[in-house]
Amino acid sequence: MSRGQGGGGGLDLARVLAVKGFLSAAEALHLHRVGREAARRGPCLEVGSYCGRSAVCLGAACAELGQVLFSIDHHRGSEEQQPGEEYFDPALYDPRRGGIDTLPWFRDTLRAAGLEETVVPIVCDSRLAARAWRTPLALVFIDGGHARESVLADYESWSPHLVPGGLLLFHDVFEDPARGGQAPYEVVRLALASGRFREHSRVESLAVLAHTGASAAAGEALRK
Ligand SMILES: C[S@@+](CC[C@H](N)C(=O)[O-])C[C@H]1O[C@@H](n2cnc3c(N)ncnc32)[C@H](O)[C@@H]1O
Repeated sequence: MSRGQGGGGGLDLARVLAVKGFLSAAEALHLHRVGREAARRGPCLEVGSYCGRSAVCLGAACAELGQVLFSIDHHRGSEEQQPGEEYFDPALYDPRRGGIDTLPWFRDTLRAAGLEETVVPIVCDSRLAARAWRTPLALVFIDGGHARESVLADYESWSPHLVPGGLLLFHDVFEDPARGGQAPYEVVRLALASGRFREHSRVESLAVLAHTGASAAAGEALRK
C-alpha cells in the first residue's frame, strides 16, 4: 500500500479541523486527495456525516471536479457517542428531543464551507438508503456505526455500487486491538479476501481499497 503524501490542493485544512470530528490532519488531506482521484469518474458517497469534517474533505474534492457527494447519517449518533459513553459530546445533546442531534451542526458546516450545492444530505439509517439505491459510485467512505454488524452491513450494502476501479474507504482501521475496535479492520480483510478489492493506499487509520472489477459472485466463489 502506498502512503499518502503531498499538499491539500483546494482544501482549507484549518477550516476542516475546526469542525468537530475524528479525522486527523493527515487523514483529512488524504481523504481530499483520493476524493479528487475518484470524483473524476463519478459521484461519491459517505456513511457517517456527523458534524461534517469528512464531508468538507470529500465535498471540496467533488466541488473541484463538478461532482456530487451523498452524505448519509441518521444524526442520532453512534453507540459510543451516547450519554455516558466514551465519545459523548454534551454540545451535541438536544434536550428538547432528549438525544444527540448532529444535523444542525452538519448543515452549518456545509453552509460555512460553501458546499450546499455539492453535498446531498441523506438523513436516515444507511441500510434504508441502500434499499433503493441505483446510482453507480466512484467512491464509498464507510465511517458510520463501528459495531461489526454495522460495518459489515455498510460494506455489503454499498460496495456493490462501486464502478470498477472505484475506491472503498474505511476509517478507524486498527491492526492492533490495543489501539481500537477491530470491526473495520476485519471488514477490510474480508474485502481483500473477496478478490473484489486490492490495497490502494493507507494514512494512519484511513484505509483505501480499489475495486478490481471482479463481480460479487466471483468474490463469493473465491471465499469458498
Ligand atoms: C464516527 S462518526 C462519523 C464521523 C465523520 N465521518 C467525520 O469525519 O467527522 C459516525 C456517524 O455515523 C452515524 N451512524 C451510525 N450508525 C448509522 C447508521 N446505521 N445509519 C446512518 N448513520 C449512522 C452516527 O450518527 C455518527 O454521526
